[in-house]
Amino acid sequence: MAIFSDNENIQKTLKTDNKKSENLDSKEINYDRAFENNIRPQTLDEYIGQTALKSTLKISIKAAQKRNKQIDHMLFYGPPGLGKTTLASVIANELKTKIKITSAPALERPRDIIGILMSLKNGEILFIDEIHRLNKVTEEILYPAMEDFFLDMTTGKAQTVKTLRVPLPKFTLIGATTKAGALSGPLRDRFGIIHRLQFYTIEELSQVITRTAGILEIDIDEEGAKTIASRSRGTPRIANRLVKRVADYALVKADSKITKQIAIEALDNLHIDESGLDSTDREMMKLIIEKYDGGPVGLETIAAALGEDSRTIEDVYEPYLLQEGYIQRTPRGRRVSPEGYRQLGYKVPSNETGQQSLF
Ligand code: ADE
Repeated sequence: MAIFSDNENIQKTLKTDNKKSENLDSKEINYDRAFENNIRPQTLDEYIGQTALKSTLKISIKAAQKRNKQIDHMLFYGPPGLGKTTLASVIANELKTKIKITSAPALERPRDIIGILMSLKNGEILFIDEIHRLNKVTEEILYPAMEDFFLDMTTGKAQTVKTLRVPLPKFTLIGATTKAGALSGPLRDRFGIIHRLQFYTIEELSQVITRTAGILEIDIDEEGAKTIASRSRGTPRIANRLVKRVADYALVKADSKITKQIAIEALDNLHIDESGLDSTDREMMKLIIEKYDGGPVGLETIAAALGEDSRTIEDVYEPYLLQEGYIQRTPRGRRVSPEGYRQLGYKVPSNETGQQSLF
């Protein structure tokens, strides 16, 4: 498998995105790609977690191979860092085909998407990250491309305008998004396979950490891996990042072996608590509790008070806090749950201990 990681497009994404979204993009795109590629699993058997998804994918892959046809277009959604891009690369590898990786903000002009579509060959995969951010024109070019493998092009001007159907190779589009709800209906309907990626269990993350440590020749014991796993917010990208930070700590402070004790010291040092919450998570919950009586308070207000981009809060910080039940989304904004109060060591207000239906 060859990955044409669309570097030019990624650069463009970084340049054209406004400053507000820099935070998110640097988390999402600028993350040490070489390191990620090095530790990325190559096959579905090497890929840890997402068990249900893997077994349906194995069937789809085998069926496509038996029919000698391209696999259906797929949409993966879920919080960042759960392995959507990794999975797309694994699928390409299993199908022994090539994958082109790009991101919706890089597909600004019609010629960006047309150029990529025309460069594909039968059976190849086009991966579009953040697909909910496609502009209308690009999206409309994709409809006939996905459905009938044609590009509808126009030539001439005014009265002499002619439409021309240009055939395309039988490719597979894999779209990834953190926000399935933000996808337009017509685009969503053109995906044959739609899957939500789940947060990883501590057991699964321990396996990811042990595997990564093996590749990077980091010495770690089972308890050390479990300690890092339990503070990785259910997310392999975070687990892999933390194992490197803890390895640095172990190298400097100890005999370079990661044990439970070393992992605890290193992660405390990084201000990552036993539940994986970092200082931004805690600041956000503290703000809602102390300044807004526990909420509800609007996302924009929270973002302004924290000096963070609201999209970063919504896409990066919030999903895990919601999943763990520390915060809740209500029509009037975010609020901290009784569990969130306890997690930060606050006394739960008496009006919070009663019926959930009060809000
Ligand atoms: N590295 C990152 N995600 C992974 C996964 N799901 N399985 C194995 N290694 C990984």
